[in-house]
Amino acid sequence: MNKELMNIVTDGELQFQEPLRRHTSYDIGGPAQVFIRPADYIELRNVIRFAYSNQIPVTLLGSGSNCLVNDLGIDGIVISLVGTLDALSINGTKVIAESGVLLGRLIRSCIHANLTGMESLIGIPGTVGGALIMNAGAYGKEISTHLALVHTLTLDGKEKIYRGEDLQFSYRSSSFGPDEIIIRAEFQLEYASADTIHELKSKASDTRKGSQPLHYRSAGSVFKNPSIEMSAGLLIDRAGLKGSRRGRAEISQQHGNFIINHGQATAEDVAFLIKLASRTIKQQFGIQLELEIKPFGFATEFWEEAGIAR
Ligand code: EPU
Repeated sequence: MNKELMNIVTDGELQFQEPLRRHTSYDIGGPAQVFIRPADYIELRNVIRFAYSNQIPVTLLGSGSNCLVNDLGIDGIVISLVGTLDALSINGTKVIAESGVLLGRLIRSCIHANLTGMESLIGIPGTVGGALIMNAGAYGKEISTHLALVHTLTLDGKEKIYRGEDLQFSYRSSSFGPDEIIIRAEFQLEYASADTIHELKSKASDTRKGSQPLHYRSAGSVFKNPSIEMSAGLLIDRAGLKGSRRGRAEISQQHGNFIINHGQATAEDVAFLIKLASRTIKQQFGIQLELEIKPFGFATEFWEEAGIAR
């Protein structure tokens, strides 16, 4: 397959056995058998069609900010859209972003254009595509709130267009299929005064800085909150697990739902702490936590054996 891929990916980036720790916010992850950053949509579509007709598994990594990649790496083709598929345009109150646009850039551009609706999401890492798939949110706002239109590409190479209202979104979840790649999204925002927007943005950003360990490598919240009233971080805190360490990984002393990498931590270290937290919370409170981060390269049984739902 390597030769054929070299003919398809002529302008983009193509690497074999590329260490994925270079592409994850955790700084953790073994090699991708093949790592591709397509130059544009056409190259992406050609790679997807090639993979489909040759039954090669494809993994979309987004910006690698919400995932735990196994130390053994990922078989098949791993695609990153960061630094590519990153066109962004604003026309009045309509904002069109390709899926590789980083959320921070989208939010800053909206603020610059005096558009409100996105500013509470400031500080969430990741791409527009990844944020839509998992319906990223913070401080009462979700990325889906102002979504007007989305273009996707399925892994069998078909293009689809959805209106925002045709999709279902809920807490950290969307109705996109597991075989769908987001290509482009259109948002409909509203004008507001610069003061109002800056106030909302500063409130979100200051609260986040005060409560989350942003100076360490992490993948953000490890678990979903079991309910609106019950936060996973609070439960882990109450169970006395903050500060628990395995190798170079630690359950953050600042926020119980963050597992941080002190440098050179392995996926195995992080997974050990995830299982420890899950088992302890189940034993102490009878609550089964679900992963918010996406694990890649692990067998399903790896998590099931600790009762962790994905
Ligand atoms: N809390 C503790 N101890 C802790 C952590 C939290 O007592 O160690 C308490 C806090 O004091 C607060 C409550 O638990 O009363 C909730 O904590 P926080 O406000 O930090 O929010 P969260 O529910 O832990 C969620 C999202 C975050 C998002 C914030 C702000 C999830 C899983 N996490 O965190 O999203 O930034 O709200 O909206 O929904 C992410 O998704 O990666 C993420 C960081």
